[in-house]
Amino acid sequence: MAPRRCITFLPLILVLFFISRHTASSCHDDVIGNYKSSIVSGVYSWYMKTIEDFMLQLESDAFDSLDLVSSTKTFDVDSYGAKGDGKTDDTEAFKKAWKQACSSKTAAVFLVAKNKKYLVAPIRFEGPCNASITIQISGTILASTQESKYKEDENHWLRVDEVENLVVEGGGVIDGNGDTWWRKSCKVNETLPCTDAPTALTIYKCTSVRMSDLKIQNAQQIHVSFDNCNNVQASNVQVSAPGDSPNTDGIHVTHTQNITISNSVIGTGDDCISIVSGSNGVKASGITCGPGHGISIGSLGSDNAEAHVSDVTVDGAQLTGTTNGVRIKTWQGGSGNASNIVFRNINMKNVSNTILIDQNYCDQDEPCDDEDDAVEIINVTYEKISGTSAKKDAITFNCSKSHPCQGIALKDINLTRVDGSAATAICNNVKLSYSGTVIPRCPNNIVQERLAFGAISSY
Ligand SMILES: *[C@@H]1O[C@H](CO)[C@@H](O)[C@H](O)[C@H]1NC(C)=O
Ligand SMILES: *[C@@H]1O[C@H](CO)[C@@H](O)[C@H](O)[C@H]1NC(C)=O
Ligand SMILES: *[C@@H]1O[C@H](CO)[C@@H](O)[C@H](O)[C@H]1NC(C)=O
Ligand SMILES: *[C@@H]1O[C@H](CO)[C@@H](O)[C@H](O)[C@H]1NC(C)=O
Ligand SMILES: *[C@@H]1O[C@H](CO)[C@@H](O)[C@H](O)[C@H]1NC(C)=O
Ligand SMILES: *[C@@H]1O[C@H](CO)[C@@H](O)[C@H](O)[C@H]1NC(C)=O
Ligand SMILES: *[C@@H]1O[C@H](CO)[C@@H](O)[C@H](O)[C@H]1NC(C)=O
Ligand SMILES: *[C@@H]1O[C@H](CO)[C@@H](O)[C@H](O)[C@H]1NC(C)=O
Repeated sequence: MAPRRCITFLPLILVLFFISRHTASSCHDDVIGNYKSSIVSGVYSWYMKTIEDFMLQLESDAFDSLDLVSSTKTFDVDSYGAKGDGKTDDTEAFKKAWKQACSSKTAAVFLVAKNKKYLVAPIRFEGPCNASITIQISGTILASTQESKYKEDENHWLRVDEVENLVVEGGGVIDGNGDTWWRKSCKVNETLPCTDAPTALTIYKCTSVRMSDLKIQNAQQIHVSFDNCNNVQASNVQVSAPGDSPNTDGIHVTHTQNITISNSVIGTGDDCISIVSGSNGVKASGITCGPGHGISIGSLGSDNAEAHVSDVTVDGAQLTGTTNGVRIKTWQGGSGNASNIVFRNINMKNVSNTILIDQNYCDQDEPCDDEDDAVEIINVTYEKISGTSAKKDAITFNCSKSHPCQGIALKDINLTRVDGSAATAICNNVKLSYSGTVIPRCPNNIVQERLAFGAISSY
């Protein structure tokens, strides 16, 4: 919008420009002292220069944006034969439209029209593309539930691969139609074997991604996964699925660097946000979470894996009725570390395990073996966290005996039980420090850790 307004004002500015030029030269002709005249002409030449520079800038901006406006091409799935009636399989039309959009030499918009519902099977939107691309989802994309269509790739429904300068927006809906898969989950029906279900939307190996104004609901399993991406901004994303839908993480971050997730409302049957190995530089703010399992780092280190997660900041979140608040979970037997993590400005309402580090995480039927190796947890700050806990133990640090959690800082914490009584903390193998008001505190007679990651505390 802004550039167009500039173009509108261009004639006006041109007129002003010529008036000032005229005025400037007539001033020169006035009979005034040389001294004064040179000041006046100095001021005027500065004035003229400023206006000229401004105009040059304006013109180049205006022409750039004119260029952009005239050269952006739209590829509407309807033009490639999509019906959008919610019944016809529109997969082929989507594939054709993508092929054309991706090979466009100028910026392209892949358009899914408003007020229509498109039924589609798994699709890979493959890059690299020849120019920047916007996937504009204004209508609804609904997942096909025909099992045979997921044979080739059981783990992904919509997947965007290796695209640079990707925008995904449009105010529409991505609906994973997940009910069919949920009923087949071993977490729902224990007689069935455990199998994976597709992630609704996977952004894979993409660079410079902006996702906004999108609703993703009822995913088969994970709703949105940023996998092996760089430089991602996701905002105003709404994720929703029933609180009892199995493994339906909201936003999953894996092997991704420099990602910001902001102003998003997430309610699902699993983690609102999950951040796993290979991810660093993750920022989340303005997150509303619930129902669900909270905001999680991990799980890390399953099957003795080496895991690394660092520089994660969650600043500004409201969690309501979730089974966890802010959680770090690692399996025994892993290696590597999760470090430099901040959870700040978080409000909890009736949340179980409001603050949790579990280095003995075990999400399987058989009990997990005791192992000495562990993914280390180093330098985690919890600051300005308040609200209510559904459980008596609001804070649990269940860390590894051989690799205690270290550099754990609690600042300005006030958690009470939802019935108004005092909450408690469980602290195993953690080296921590307090500052400000911290309620509750560990029961152990803790020696505060003074220097970063030095002194030994609660065992
Ligand atoms: C990009 O453009 C070139 C021609 O300049 C073409 O050969 C190529 O197929 C295009 N790439 C894609 C992904 O369409
Ligand atoms: C669980 O799965 C079994 C085997 O498919 C099926 O017979 C049974 O009806 C299912 N139970 C429920 C509660 O859906
Ligand atoms: C991180 O990503 C943002 C948004 O894509 C970008 O503006 C910024 O330059 C990136 N920072 C680094 C260090 O790459
Ligand atoms: C975490 O692991 C990485 C890679 O091994 C290492 O470079 C880094 O120093 C470790 N961080 C801490 C805080 O020990
Ligand atoms: C601890 O983590 C914070 C936040 O990422 C970082 O600013 C700080 O430098 C880290 N401290 C050490 C000693 O690494
Ligand atoms: C808190 O959550 C529990 C379920 O975890 C629910 O039974 C209870 O009614 C909730 N209490 C309040 C005060 O919201
Ligand atoms: C801590 O982990 C141990 C070992 O897995 C487990 O037995 C115990 O129940 C856990 N404690 C809490 C409070 O979660
Ligand atoms: C902690 O929170 C409770 C409940 O909101 C409040 O009554 C109490 O005054 C707070 N305590 C401090 C020290 O802020």
